[in-house]
Amino acid sequence: MRTVDWDSANAQVKLIDQRRLPGSLVVLSFSRYQDLVEAIRNMTVRGAPAIGVTAAFGVVLAAWYATPPTLEEARREIKKAMELLRASRPTAVNLFWALDRIHQVAEAPYENMDALRRALLAEAQRMAEEDVATNRQMAMHGAALIEDGDTIIHHCNTGALAAVDWGTALGCIRMAHEQGKRIHVLVDETRPRLQGARLTAWELEQYGISYEIICDSAAGAFLRGGKVQKVFFGADRVAANGDVANKIGTYMLSLAAHANGVPVIAVMPLSTIDLQTPHGGMIPIEERDPAEVLNLQINGEPVAPKGARARNPAFDVTPHTLISAWVTERGVITPPFDVHFQAILEAGSKPN
Ligand code: MRU
Repeated sequence: MRTVDWDSANAQVKLIDQRRLPGSLVVLSFSRYQDLVEAIRNMTVRGAPAIGVTAAFGVVLAAWYATPPTLEEARREIKKAMELLRASRPTAVNLFWALDRIHQVAEAPYENMDALRRALLAEAQRMAEEDVATNRQMAMHGAALIEDGDTIIHHCNTGALAAVDWGTALGCIRMAHEQGKRIHVLVDETRPRLQGARLTAWELEQYGISYEIICDSAAGAFLRGGKVQKVFFGADRVAANGDVANKIGTYMLSLAAHANGVPVIAVMPLSTIDLQTPHGGMIPIEERDPAEVLNLQINGEPVAPKGARARNPAFDVTPHTLISAWVTERGVITPPFDVHFQAILEAGSKPN
């Protein structure tokens, strides 16, 4: 089952409701792009590649249900949908990459509404298929870095739920497992939204991979204790110098891994690399509702005193100097990022 899918019988977008996992596997259907914007904002769907493909389907919905069903009205709705989708979350560059890509299709000339709808749907479906194929390629490259017997710390959720299928860093771990390597995953719970404890643990259960959930703050002790061979995470945006914006806590984890000589491996499709952003300090970091931090309860009581205030940055930036390897669908990039990134791009564009 895919995280994001198109239901052709009903012309609707289907999303696994990630707010309900692991308790319930609920699939929601959407026919209004405005509801899809809200689903991205409230994290019904989350993870950089997943929100990119969802946004592309949002543009399909805008054209599909334009009333009156004229080309002119569809273009007006598409423009509104683009603006709302662009404003839904700021950090994951895949969202903007996907919207720019589908915008080019929307801008082409069409004979009638039906032709426009079909072209948009075909492009969104192509993006979904490409996402799965890309993730499988990344998984193969990343799995080659994993050895039999490795214990890996993994941050946030980067699995099938964070993409259309397979995902990024967790996809590499899953592939290594399918290749027969024995792996143990220490799952950072990933405060405050607990993507690790809820979603990554749920996925690892499905795949039959050995894991234990740890508090984010326990990672340093495991790394110092020599119990961990690798750290794996995904990325929401990679700057041109290789700095990685990812879920809050990634930076502290990388610092602790680097200080203990444990390789830090970031996994991302090329669509997550933003060459327009020279370094990580220029990546917009989403600040979410403080309630996500404050609503933690123990014994049915809020842990924070009434009136407490909180800060809730959703992402942080790990400088490229802490990263040992960036895994992409084209292969593994080792430092220095800028030089070796160009090299894999050039190698990929040469005819075989
Ligand atoms: O706030 P989220 O859950 O959307 O954040 C997701 C992450 O930070 C993932 O690690 C990232 O998207 C890369 S994995 C596909």
